[in-house]
Parts: sequence; C-alpha cells; structure tokens
Amino acid sequence: MAAESNTHRHGGQPLYDFQRLGIPPRPVIDFSVNVNPLGPPPEVTEAWNGWRHDIHSYPSPDGAGVLRFYQKRFGLAMDSVLAGNGSTELIYLAPRALDLKTAAVAAPSFHDYSRSILLNGGQILEFPDLENNGEGWEKKAIKILPQIDALFIGNPNNPTGQLISAEGILAMAERFPDKFFLVDEAFIQFVENRCRYSLLHPDRLRSNIVVFHSLTKFYALAGLRLGAAISHPETIARLRKHKEPWSVSLPAERSAEVLATCETYEEKTCTLINKERQAMAKFALQSPLMEALPPTANFILARWTATSDLDNLLCALLTRGLYIRDARNFCGLTGNWFRFAILGEKENELLRRAFLQLEKEVR
Ligand SMILES: Cc1ncc(COP(=O)(O)O)c(C=O)c1O
Repeated sequence: MAAESNTHRHGGQPLYDFQRLGIPPRPVIDFSVNVNPLGPPPEVTEAWNGWRHDIHSYPSPDGAGVLRFYQKRFGLAMDSVLAGNGSTELIYLAPRALDLKTAAVAAPSFHDYSRSILLNGGQILEFPDLENNGEGWEKKAIKILPQIDALFIGNPNNPTGQLISAEGILAMAERFPDKFFLVDEAFIQFVENRCRYSLLHPDRLRSNIVVFHSLTKFYALAGLRLGAAISHPETIARLRKHKEPWSVSLPAERSAEVLATCETYEEKTCTLINKERQAMAKFALQSPLMEALPPTANFILARWTATSDLDNLLCALLTRGLYIRDARNFCGLTGNWFRFAILGEKENELLRRAFLQLEKEVR
C-alpha cells in the first residue's frame, strides 16, 4: 500500500524547473500540459464578453449548462450526469460519496486517483502497468478485484496512453457487480476510434461504473475548470447528495452549453492531433535518444536513454525555450521517464529539431 503524498507536482510549472536547474527563466513552449493546441473554441471566446454583465448572478446550483452539454453532445440524460469544477472535483467526491476505502490504481497513472482515496482515510493497492496495449489488463483486474472496493481505470491512461475496450470494462463490471469501476476519460476525445473505448453513451451506463470526463483538455479550458461524472442515475443521485452547490461558475456553465455547437472545432482538433500524433510517434519511436511508448491520445511517454540523468535533457530543452514533463515522480516510473504533449505542427517541429541537435551533442 502506498504512502500519502501531498507534495506531488503536476505539469505546467516551468519556473520550478528553471530554479531547480539554475537556468534564467524565459518564455517556453509548454509540452508538459496536455491541452488542445488550438486553444479554446472561437465560439466560446466570442461569446465571453457578453457574459460579463451577468457575473453578479449565481450560476445554477448544479451546473445545468454542463448537463445540457452532455445531453446534446452525447445523448446522456440529465439525471445521469453530475457537473463539476473540472473532473478533479468529482474524482475526489466519489470515494467520499460511495464510501470507497480500498482502491487499486495502475502504476503509473494520474496521481489524484490515489490521493482521493487516501484523503478519505482509505488505502491504495498499486499494480505495475507500464504497457499501453491493454493486454493483460483483464488478468490483472480479476486478480486484484476481490481485494478492493474500487478499481481506477485511466482510459486512455495518463501517462502511458493505455486503452481498455468499453466491452472489456462492461464485462468486468458485470462479473464484479459489488465493485466500483472509476473510469477516467479525460483524454478520450483525442483518441482515434473513440467509440470502441468510451462509455459516454446512454447504453453503456451501469450503476457500478462512474466515468469522469473533462472539458478542460480537449476544449482547452483548463483555467475555467469544467468536467462531469457520468453514471446510472441511481449512482449519480448518491454522488449528488455529497456535492457542494455552485462549484461550476456562471461563465463555465455558459461555455459548456456553447461547446455543444463546436463540431467544426472538434473535427479540426481530431484531424490535427491524428496527423501530428503520427508524425511525433514515428519520430520518437525511431529516435536513438529515447524509448517511447506508442501514443493513443495527445501525449507521448518516453524514457531518456542518451545519458544517465534526465536533467541533461530538461536543461537542454529549457535553454531552447521548450518545456516537457519530468515524469520521474509518477509512481511506477523508475528511470528517466518524461512525457510531452502533441501540440501544433510548428511547435512539434521545434521539439523534433531540438532532439536532432541533441543527437549530435551527446554523441
Ligand atoms: C488523467 C487526468 N484525469 C483528470 C485530470 C483533471 O482534469 P480537470 O480537473 O481539468 O478536468 C487530469 C489533469 O491533468 C488528468 O491528467
């Protein structure tokens, strides 16, 4: 069982690394946070000014604009959705509301899964899972499930990119009806053939599966904080009993409603990310400087193999104004692991060029 860690750092903190490595700070292209490189949908930014006169008012207590987004975009009934201040709020709510005291998490995976259980006085069972091909998941799950209340599944998993089929999760939930399956689909809209994996569908709701979905990554609204938990209405009612009112702000719920009209932006994003993911994967998988896992979403996990210290890479990139995620603080990643987002064509080209220059320098 893992010890609690409150000192965990997320991505997006270049100043920390500039200071730690003794490099004078400068503006960076941030590959450490996996947010849509197109920026927020223009439909949202254009409507934004019109809402400024309304901020003296309370938003709806339950973030009704977010519920309407899921109804329009995914055909989900409003009683099967709970809106939150980012999916993080709901990841922390679930263990409290569902009284989950023991949960299993893959190592590596998103740190806040473990923390949400530990802060609820529970315990975490970590199991090593560094593959990203989904094979072997079933066997591991069957072995672990009798010992726990809940299993966290990042789908795709951050940072490995591992994907589990929706069919596989549904079958496991049926086989273990008294266990909870906490499925995080924060990055699912970046995945090709999303429907093979996603449970965001009215026919795929089960009372022992809670899906966490984020609107901050795919729609580049990280500062606005928007997300949801999706489940069978019975489970949503249990979660709602423990939920604070008004955690979705008025501009956030207005934005969510606008997102339901952003089909062109969604298509543009998928076209860009699919193309860039291919190019970056080809580069990373062939690079003599790293061992990379094949990506499935908008980020790549790799192990730096060119020198014995990842700081050499972080320094070389920071001095070129490029910032990647030091992944050494993920549980289960021993060694020089790093993660980088797939951004726009120009930014990705700059990162590739920096790696090519480094090939010459470390020779
Ligand atoms: C895998 C994963 N899930 C959930 C979140 C939380 O996203 P948000 O609270 O912005 O919806 C993050 C944020 O980095 C993440 O990486």
